[in-house]
Amino acid sequence: MILRKEGLIRAVEAVIAAGGSDAREARRVAENLVTANLLGHDSHGIGMVPRYIDALLEGGLAANQHPKPTMDAGALLALDGCKGYGQTIGHEAMEMAIERAKKHGSCVMVLANSHHLGRIGHWAEMAVAQGLVSIHFVNVISHARVAPYAGRDARFGTNPVCIGVPLPGEEPFLLDMATSAVAQGKMRVAHNKREKVSPGLLIDDQGRPTDDPRYAVVPPLGAILAFGGHKGYGLAVACELLGGALTGGGTWHYDESKKQRVLNGMLAVLIDPVRLGTADAFGSEARQFLDWLRKGRPAAGADKVRIAGEPERETRAKRERDGISVDDNTWEEILAAGAKVKLDAARIEKLARG
Ligand SMILES: NC(=O)c1ccc[n+]([C@@H]2O[C@H](COP(=O)([O-])OP(=O)(O)OC[C@H]3O[C@@H](n4cnc5c(N)ncnc54)[C@H](O)[C@@H]3O)[C@@H](O)[C@H]2O)c1
Repeated sequence: MILRKEGLIRAVEAVIAAGGSDAREARRVAENLVTANLLGHDSHGIGMVPRYIDALLEGGLAANQHPKPTMDAGALLALDGCKGYGQTIGHEAMEMAIERAKKHGSCVMVLANSHHLGRIGHWAEMAVAQGLVSIHFVNVISHARVAPYAGRDARFGTNPVCIGVPLPGEEPFLLDMATSAVAQGKMRVAHNKREKVSPGLLIDDQGRPTDDPRYAVVPPLGAILAFGGHKGYGLAVACELLGGALTGGGTWHYDESKKQRVLNGMLAVLIDPVRLGTADAFGSEARQFLDWLRKGRPAAGADKVRIAGEPERETRAKRERDGISVDDNTWEEILAAGAKVKLDAARIEKLARG
């Protein structure tokens, strides 16, 4: 099924509003999720709606919350996300951090107890649009899905890291990645489509390599591996220490959870490059490095060398033009989520296709 972004936004907005969110929150959640689909990250797109509704109904996610400062010293800011929708909490937390970074030259913001923050790049993009560098370490309180290096079973989540850098005269560098070899949601998408995944991403419940995404989705569960062996594993631990412990939101150290909610803790460091006094050198050095990079020869089978953020922008242009493909399982789950908050399937279909 191919749907236009406007229809998908209307459909998701209606489901979230039926869950009790005010109009602004419902719109923010819908736009955030559909943007993830537009950028090619279906794992963080509308497929999250059923999970959000389940979390809402079990009390792990609360509608219409706002971040509460627990410490505010200008360039240092600590916030409690109050288990609110990450799309509201993340947006408002970043607005506060951006304002402080503009005023003081930088801001270190810790955010605890936000519900799922979705694509972390979304938050870096807000700062980058204001000319700021934005660095993020995030932990995930949900289910252990990733095995430590040299470990056999899952011990933590897909802990994402993101670095956004505004680039003079061109679109920004936006490195936004799970520290797992693949995002958990991508396993769900592959499982829903009944597809196999590449070798080297997963181990089964006995610790053996497997290409079957079911081992990341339904019991008996195996584990996803960290990207880059011990190096990606090190970054994942840094996310737990910085996004979980330093924020005060908590680290993952539990046996399997039955809860549907996904909480994120996030350390964000925002820097105004102009205030460092190196803006001229930064502009010219960044320009020269990117020119140098792009003059390199593409590898066999590759069309060109890209920087992080470019693949998503290319996918966005394509999906804005051609629409977004939604698989049947994902759509059925969204209709079922609508039913749980008493929204008729026919109404959701009409909004999506209208
Ligand atoms: N909120 C959460 O709990 C949570 C947890 C995990 C992941 N996430 C999100 O999941 C999303 C997907 O993560 P992922 O690791 O699957 O992303 P990915 O592997 O698709 O991309 C990772 C990065 O590599 C870059 N990249 C991809 N192909 C490239 C190429 N050919 N040349 C240069 N750069 C390239 C991308 O621009 C991106 O910045 C991210 O937005 C992340 O924030 C969120």
